[in-house]
Amino acid sequence: MLKGKTIIVGVTGGIAAYKTAMLVSRLKAWGADVWVVMTAAATKLIGPLTFRTLTGNPVVYDLFSQEDIHTPVPHISLADRADLVIIAPCTANMIGKLANGLADDPLSTIVMACQAPKIIAPAMNCNMWRNPLVQGNVGKLKALNWECIGPVEGKLACGVEDIGRMAEPEEILERTLALIGSKQDLKGKHILITAGGTQETIDPVRFIANRSSGKMGYAIAANARERGAEVTLISANVDLPAPLDLKPIKVATADQMLASVEAALQKADVVVMAAAVADYKYHAAKSKIKKSNQKLKLALTPTSDILQRVTSATGRAGKTIVGFALETDNLIANARKKLKEKDLDLIVANDPTTFGSDSAKVVLINKLGKQRPLPRASKSVVAREILNAIL
Ligand SMILES: Cc1cc2nc3c(=O)[nH]c(=O)nc-3n(C[C@H](O)[C@H](O)[C@H](O)COP(=O)(O)O)c2cc1C
Repeated sequence: MLKGKTIIVGVTGGIAAYKTAMLVSRLKAWGADVWVVMTAAATKLIGPLTFRTLTGNPVVYDLFSQEDIHTPVPHISLADRADLVIIAPCTANMIGKLANGLADDPLSTIVMACQAPKIIAPAMNCNMWRNPLVQGNVGKLKALNWECIGPVEGKLACGVEDIGRMAEPEEILERTLALIGSKQDLKGKHILITAGGTQETIDPVRFIANRSSGKMGYAIAANARERGAEVTLISANVDLPAPLDLKPIKVATADQMLASVEAALQKADVVVMAAAVADYKYHAAKSKIKKSNQKLKLALTPTSDILQRVTSATGRAGKTIVGFALETDNLIANARKKLKEKDLDLIVANDPTTFGSDSAKVVLINKLGKQRPLPRASKSVVAREILNAIL
């Protein structure tokens, strides 16, 4: 939801600065490009290296240092690029500076130059927070449409239970998603996605496989999740990191994939069968088949047709079923045949150059026969278009 967004996270000298490490890591997990700017006081409480490691970006804490930041005026270029500024924790001192237009450290200078929306998460001792000067300064920032999240009540660093704790990172993340996150047009939908290629055992050391990498299915799962869908991802022999906060259900064979699909089918609104499923399986030998000079014949039996099972299942009505066709010859004619025979709502036709690649050139054909060729594009762009077509 935050892919393509640049967020400046300002860290000031409050004891809650350790919580900002969690906030930064959550913003990264949602795809944001995060730049941390620290005050000198903040660097006494948490090391810049922590943020550098979590964000993968240099940390700005010295306005006059050119180290690591390869632009002539970093505070202006960063300010121009930002989609959002979050200052967490925000000290009484920083609130005072910002409300009164001071710019004498990297953070207040960058914020002064930045036109993006701003969130502060104040954290301080309860008496500091209640101080009319602090309240007046917070009021000034709110009047300029700055958002103030917290502080909340709880145990403070000084030992008392009162107001002053920094809001939890999750609350700040939620507000961030609401402010600048991508649209949630799949919220409330449950999407079942299969990805990868099944493997059929021949003997304890060999199997029949195919060249599917799982990249397409994983890209669809990631995009669906970003757009708010609940996703069940059934993954066959995929060697990729799990998409954002998803735990793929791992299967190896076509039979295992069928069982997992049937178990998840009932609650799905949309089924996207992106996996390459073996058409044939072997009655696996218990011991390794020994080498000989004779011809080896393996009698293969057809696997269950998972798509057919899905489209003929009771409860299919109301579900959108999407299949993939990969053909070496007569791509469109074969894809159209499969669309009809399997009673699909949409078919994604692609050729074998798609296997393992980061890009794909596909043609989308819907139930009404409408055909839409897409130019070659990254699998994440193709995934977005497939989900748009489903919508
Ligand atoms: C251990 C420690 C914890 C502090 N925690 C806070 C705090 O939670 N909130 C706050 O406003 N000031 C806190 N301060 C005081 C600030 O660090 C101090 O006002 C400093 O000048 C703030 O600088 P900055 O706003 O540039 O980060 C703390 C100081 C120390 C030594």
